[in-house]
Amino acid sequence: MIRLPKMDFPLEKLINLARAAKEMAYAPYSQLRVGAALLSAQGQAFKGCNIENASYGLTICAERVALFKAVSEGERDFAALAVIADTKNYCVPCGACLQVLAEFNPHLKVFMCNQHGDCQVQTVAELLPRAFTL
Ligand code: THU
Repeated sequence: MIRLPKMDFPLEKLINLARAAKEMAYAPYSQLRVGAALLSAQGQAFKGCNIENASYGLTICAERVALFKAVSEGERDFAALAVIADTKNYCVPCGACLQVLAEFNPHLKVFMCNQHGDCQVQTVAELLPRAFTL
């Protein structure tokens, strides 16, 4: 079993939390339900799901919901993120989410999962090598 670095937290558990978050997705327009689970360096997990809106551009992705929940609770130090959707393809975070994640940790490990729970892992910096910075 893979255990995430610096903490006693099984990857399988983080994926299961992302899967549980996906069940809460509000996606009546795209029908694509996405779940995310963001693990803090202290070993606390924050879940997020995508939340759509009739004004489509107001939709927010699962990854940003998880991150904003965590930051608004005082957490800023993150170790790993799991993202899952009911798709054959591995669920890669969009550019907007990567930019927001890069703000806090470009070295964050992102576990991108498919409908079977199989994952690929890359860091935020690998996925978005030239994130915007001031
Ligand atoms: N979505 C996410 O939740 N995360 C991503 O990284 C990409 C897309 C959501 C937004 C929208 O509700 C649906 O997937 C289709 O784009």
